[in-house]
Amino acid sequence: MAKNAEDRYQSALGLKYDLENCLLQLQENGEIVDFPIAQKDVCDRFIIPDKLYGRETEVKTLLQAFERVSLGTTEMMLVAGFSGIGKTAVVHEVHKPIVRQRGYFIKGKYDQFNRNIPFSAFVQAFRDLMGQLFTESDAQIQAWKNKILAAVGENGQVIIEVIPELERIIGEQPPVINLSGTAAQNRFNLLFHKFVEVFTTKEHPLVMFLDDLQWADSASLKLIELLMSESSAGYLLLIGAYRDNEVSAAHPLMFSLAEIKKAQATINTINLTPLSYASLNQLVADTLSCSTIIAQPLTELVYQKTKGNPFFSTQFLKALYEDGLIKFDWDERNWQCNIVAVKELSLSDDVVQFMASQLQKLPETTQDIFKICCLYW
Ligand SMILES: Nc1ncnc2c1ncn2[C@@H]1O[C@H](COP(=O)(O)OP(=O)(O)OP(=O)(O)O)[C@@H](O)[C@H]1O
Ligand SMILES: [Mg+2]
Repeated sequence: MAKNAEDRYQSALGLKYDLENCLLQLQENGEIVDFPIAQKDVCDRFIIPDKLYGRETEVKTLLQAFERVSLGTTEMMLVAGFSGIGKTAVVHEVHKPIVRQRGYFIKGKYDQFNRNIPFSAFVQAFRDLMGQLFTESDAQIQAWKNKILAAVGENGQVIIEVIPELERIIGEQPPVINLSGTAAQNRFNLLFHKFVEVFTTKEHPLVMFLDDLQWADSASLKLIELLMSESSAGYLLLIGAYRDNEVSAAHPLMFSLAEIKKAQATINTINLTPLSYASLNQLVADTLSCSTIIAQPLTELVYQKTKGNPFFSTQFLKALYEDGLIKFDWDERNWQCNIVAVKELSLSDDVVQFMASQLQKLPETTQDIFKICCLYW
């Protein structure tokens, strides 16, 4: 009956065991004395816990940046690392604490296949923010309207064209003069900068998370430079995640970051490294509802195979379960792993081969579709 789902009974068997204990006590003694419950309550569904392991330092670094920004600075925090290392996950972890401290947390991500759409992550982030503003009182929305109009003047339409939801806050706006090329971009950047500053206030600092920056378009990179290097009004934390294995020194992102650094803006980087053995061990133990000591032999194999990359590790564990190498033992009421078979698997191939073998398990038609996708990639 506990409020949090994870604090309740996780299995019917665990509950049954305790109820039987009650029945037995009742039959034998006519009363039930208190006893520690859920001792035999092991989750019999294979669930990898949806929580973050071993990123305390990184989460703290992000929250400290937010605290500094709350005092009036503008900062950029980069989260860099290999695909699947947990960049998106670690930034999501600070969402709730930031909102609790009255920050606005908005996010958008760049898309590998839509790299030519300008400002796509900014647009997502601000559509998200408009959605958050709609939940506020009419008086507050009116106040936002006044502030936004004071900032963008007669040019509100320029922003409405990319963030249509804005019209619901500031109402219809007069048409603007058509500009082209650089002039249009300069006008947009200038207005967008002013627009962003409306939301960076002492009462509610703004945290904008732009994910997958390795796929950002050049207009976005210019805008980031502007937001970071202009004499900014403060109360802005820009968090940017990118795959460092996909950007060379000549990548436009690297060039923009160098420009930002040159302009003396505060920019820090969190380099995400693989999970430690201890963290991975905890993840395996929680998944199999056992102690960390019992989980060690499997952890060693997972670690050897995935080098602590959380995406590969969780995929590997799921595959072992799907292949029947990890099974729930109903008699013993615990999870069992066929270590010998897993050992063979982990010695024989690397992660790439392993992922390929996962694809080969898909129906042939699905595999054919993948092949076509790869042709057009
Ligand atoms: N510290 C962690 N503990 C447990 N699970 C984690 C951890 N970090 C990430 N994961 C899980 O690993 C998977 C990959 O994480 P995530 O998507 O954050 O990686 P990423 O670095 O953003 O990858 P990409 O470059 O592909 O966007 C997710 O399912 C996530 O929940
Ligand atoms: Mg990600």
